[in-house]
Amino acid sequence: MIKIKNNSSRDFLILNLSDPQLKAEEWDFDNKTGKIFKKTVETLIQRVSPDLITLSGDLSYAGDFESYKNFADYFDSFEIPWTCCFGNHDNQDGDKPVQIVIDEYMEHKYFVFEKCDSSLGNSNFVILIEKNGKSAEGVILMDTHDRVPYKADDCGKNLAWGKLTKEQLSWYNDRVCELKEVGCDDSLLITHIPINAYLLAARAAFKNPTPDKSVKLSDTYSPDLWNSGYENSYGVLHEPISAYPEDEGAFDLICRLGSTKNIICGHNHINNWVVNYKGVRFIFGTKTGNGSYWEPEINGGTVIAVNENGVSSVKHEYVDVSSILENKE
Ligand SMILES: [Fe+2]
Repeated sequence: MIKIKNNSSRDFLILNLSDPQLKAEEWDFDNKTGKIFKKTVETLIQRVSPDLITLSGDLSYAGDFESYKNFADYFDSFEIPWTCCFGNHDNQDGDKPVQIVIDEYMEHKYFVFEKCDSSLGNSNFVILIEKNGKSAEGVILMDTHDRVPYKADDCGKNLAWGKLTKEQLSWYNDRVCELKEVGCDDSLLITHIPINAYLLAARAAFKNPTPDKSVKLSDTYSPDLWNSGYENSYGVLHEPISAYPEDEGAFDLICRLGSTKNIICGHNHINNWVVNYKGVRFIFGTKTGNGSYWEPEINGGTVIAVNENGVSSVKHEYVDVSSILENKE
């Protein structure tokens, strides 16, 4: 378990960035995608002044080593601790390319990471945040892999989005027990692909749980959109939730252990809803930049504030990049 000690009088701020998916050529100075990404990140860092930056997967595409190196050099330049879990695109060519990236990243001063048994995936580890001497928050990062074999669907495909395996759930159970042993009763789970219970949370909270792009971000702050008991939810549902289609058992375990009260994932670039469901806050991280697909009005990141008792608030932060889109900078 990695420890980060923080004795500041303000909350410890985690800035989560989601799904950059930058290719090597997009880091060029004149590239619009690179400009959008850098402006977004630098605006957020200036505005938030985070204590830890987390990347919830899909940094680039497996094998694009130049792009991965650019990430490490770029994030180290801010002199703020940063970390990541890996997404399906990072994992799409198997373990070897990711492990090369990890070895390179671990040479970087501000990269926070702990290698685990590679049979569980490439990014399963825990960061304990100690705030003013108290074990405040366990940040548990877990690898949700790439697609996995699944029964054929109507289109004849036999793959589904990845999931936390039984062995990983056992690992999670052990890490939560370790956190409890050091007096930490609150944890944040960061994955790339949403766990299956995101489907349940959406069904419970949205009056219309069908993706609808006509619902604007500002509309989601109205209680009219949400079922009774879920009026404090917010954020858009603009695409289907790409979770493993069957219950992998993660949520039952989370509820039974009672440690994880916040879960954040990426993967769906144009979902960023936040719903409290059965005592757990389900968060889709706001997408960072326009790599792959996006919607300009939901560009930014997500800030998770931690005090001595755990997570105190969650807020999306948005960055307007219209001047780059209009070629004005
Ligand atoms: Fe993804």
